[in-house]
Amino acid sequence: MSPRPAPLGVAVLGCGRIGTIHARNLAGRVPGARLVRVADADRRAARRLGEALDVPHGGDVEALLADGSVDGVVIATPPPSHPELIGRVAGAARAAFCEKPVGHDLGSAVAAVDAARAAGVQLQIGFHRRFDSDYAVAQRRIAAGELGEIRAFATAMRDEHAPPDAALRRERLLFEATSHDFDCIRWLLGEVVELTAFGTRATSPTYAEVGEYEHVVIVARCADGALGTIETSRVAGYGFDCRTEIVGSRATLRIDRSHVHAVEQRTPGRAQRELPRTFHDCFAGAYATELEEFVAAVRDGRRPSVEGEDGLAAMRLALAAEHSLRAGETVALELPVARRQPGRLLQHAGSGDEQ
Ligand SMILES: NC(=O)c1ccc[n+]([C@@H]2O[C@H](COP(=O)([O-])OP(=O)(O)OC[C@H]3O[C@@H](n4cnc5c(N)ncnc54)[C@H](O)[C@@H]3O)[C@@H](O)[C@H]2O)c1
Repeated sequence: MSPRPAPLGVAVLGCGRIGTIHARNLAGRVPGARLVRVADADRRAARRLGEALDVPHGGDVEALLADGSVDGVVIATPPPSHPELIGRVAGAARAAFCEKPVGHDLGSAVAAVDAARAAGVQLQIGFHRRFDSDYAVAQRRIAAGELGEIRAFATAMRDEHAPPDAALRRERLLFEATSHDFDCIRWLLGEVVELTAFGTRATSPTYAEVGEYEHVVIVARCADGALGTIETSRVAGYGFDCRTEIVGSRATLRIDRSHVHAVEQRTPGRAQRELPRTFHDCFAGAYATELEEFVAAVRDGRRPSVEGEDGLAAMRLALAAEHSLRAGETVALELPVARRQPGRLLQHAGSGDEQ
């Protein structure tokens, strides 16, 4: 009997909200992976998480990349740091899983994706919705032609409340949040070729000061003709809400993650169901499954199913929508030229008994 390959050693860089989720998953919920180290520019954050999960921790990216047990790195730091960190991870011949967006600046994001390609390492982007079981069923049915000709779509993601003012000044809604729906529509229906964005900013003067919005609706057209809306809200008030509807000539699909589970509690004249409050309440399983894909891609020496180019495509749509908001005009987009990574990539060399 051939020995099972040794687990892939994965380090997490950035120990904030999503880095903590990824580290906890790698420490126990992702078969074939082993959390080997965590790091954060804020050493206290690294220590808290490292001690909780019993792994080495620190603030230094160099030390992380010098650790021979690190085969891959999850980058879960703020977006402006992503291109440089992707470049450093790829330069050290390690596979990278990077949270969306690839960056805030397209030029450096393209350079980072190119660096990963040149180094022959995997670069997976954290579009977790592709790994959600309901969205995956929808994608398979659409791809199999069950809906017929796709005519319309509506997709929405809403947060319960806006981040604090300091975060508002750093975040770009269309890059951080809407990019999930840009990717989702590209994945389900193909490229977006035209969009017009509308926004509101009612509750805080900071939005106008920093040129941001709290609620955006984008009207978009796909290359195959499907017309639809992409809605993102920072302030739904009632919880985290994510839903998508695809209307075809033969069937319509609705994916609705607006309840935590299927249990409904009934009392006289009233039915109650629990609403999700955070993205994790909705997508806990998908965050683990996307890392399973990362591990499998490195183990098999192949490209992950969602990679750097998909991240760049979402960034281009975010930039187009930002332009549309600013200029008040419709933006036409060219179909992207395929610049995919080569077929054969870094393969995890480890073998021996699984620990
Ligand atoms: N896929 C999702 O559902 C999802 C959800 C939340 C956040 N995100 C993305 O994940 C990324 C992080 O978001 P977050 O909400 O976890 O942020 P956060 O602010 O909670 O955590 C970021 C951490 O990175 C650390 N950091 C900053 N710069 C660093 C550097 N150069 N090197 C090492 N550490 C550094 C900070 O000290 C902080 O602890 C963002 O790109 C965000 O868009 C994705």
